[in-house]
Amino acid sequence: MKPVTKHVCDQIFRGTLWNCNNSSFIAPDFEEITDGALAIDSQGKILGVGTYTSLKKLFKAKKETHFKDSVLLPGFVDTHIHFPQMNQIGCHGESLLGWLEKYIYPEELRMSHPKQAERFSSLFFRELFQNGTTTSLVLSSSDAGSTDILFKSAKASGARAIIGKVSMDRLAPKELTRSVSQDKDHSEELISKWHGKEGRLFYALTPRFSPACSASMLKMLGELAQKHKGVRIQTHFSENTDEIQLVRKLFPKSKDYLHTYEDFGLLNERTVLAHCIHATSSEISRMAKLNVKVSHCPTSNLFLGSGLFPMDLFSKKEINMSVGTDIGAGTSFSLWTTLGAAYTIQRLRHQDVSTAQLFYLATLGGAKALGLENDIGNFEVGKKADVQVINWKKKAILKARMENSQTALDRFFSCLFHFEKDLIEAVFVNGKKVFAQL
Ligand code: GUN
Ligand code: ZN
Repeated sequence: MKPVTKHVCDQIFRGTLWNCNNSSFIAPDFEEITDGALAIDSQGKILGVGTYTSLKKLFKAKKETHFKDSVLLPGFVDTHIHFPQMNQIGCHGESLLGWLEKYIYPEELRMSHPKQAERFSSLFFRELFQNGTTTSLVLSSSDAGSTDILFKSAKASGARAIIGKVSMDRLAPKELTRSVSQDKDHSEELISKWHGKEGRLFYALTPRFSPACSASMLKMLGELAQKHKGVRIQTHFSENTDEIQLVRKLFPKSKDYLHTYEDFGLLNERTVLAHCIHATSSEISRMAKLNVKVSHCPTSNLFLGSGLFPMDLFSKKEINMSVGTDIGAGTSFSLWTTLGAAYTIQRLRHQDVSTAQLFYLATLGGAKALGLENDIGNFEVGKKADVQVINWKKKAILKARMENSQTALDRFFSCLFHFEKDLIEAVFVNGKKVFAQL
């Protein structure tokens, strides 16, 4: 028999793989490959996915890493997280508007200071890595300088991130607001400096929410979205019933909350709307038509008592869904824990979300929300090797639960409720190690 010519690759990762083949939320396709492997080139591109034995026949690797007791799965994608709120998790006793005023605006002012931004921004990405998250869509403070510092940290840490400075020109402390023209200049400076850098850093226009933005601010941001085609858009929508009343009062001519964004050209396939709990059927239909994406933030919704996200209504309209931690209203940096909360919320609604759907939300659903599905979201030839390695054998009670388990889906599901940071053994972005347990 003629010997097969082997391709040379930079490295092979060996271990059990959990993956999601290119699929949709409605029909997610979860797969386990025991003793699997990824062949990766020097740029971090995946050249092969399969069993270790089959890949060894095809590839000759310069380096091989065997994660013997562990599972390799795609790095998670957090589609809604606030950097300047990382030290405000767990502030007692308020719902959204009171919580913003009492705890969050003062903290965002403190975190606008360059010294604070410098002190915490590298910790921020490290915390994400320690929880298995490799890509995030991040709201920074309203300050351009501290947002620049956050970008620098993302660059240095190796993270894949889309970051935006928050835009506000009303109903917030004066020091946090910017005039429309200042905001335009600052946003454009950050876009030209960072959008597309290293192939893994991008900019997102970030009106905080329509109560904090005048019509002129929203109009200016809509014009920037039109001008800078690849730039993403992120904001909050329909999270809390008092917030919706406030929008009605502030925008008496708008037919509903969604219109306050729609009328200014802020809704398209590059927009991620966080929460969407109380959206009306007309709003949901228009979101579907405009191909707007949803970030569901379950731990935040439970913590602030905002409401129970009606996942089935969005799924019926085939609207792309993903998950966000929404730190600091959210109570965990971990998307593992967040997926557990997403499941619990649907139980409270007497609805189900399957385990494969949960896996999809934190991987391919997140990648699609950010327009990064050609690069990340699952293990597929041609995509980037963004990988988290979880060693479930480290925790006795989880190990016992896993060993009793019949299916890979059940094993993944049990991890959501047992998750602890020290289970994450290593994390890679573009095939490069960005985090490892000591
Ligand atoms: N709506 C406007 N700003 C915020 C925020 O910082 N967090 C949450 N959860 N909702 C918001
Ligand atoms: Zn938020």
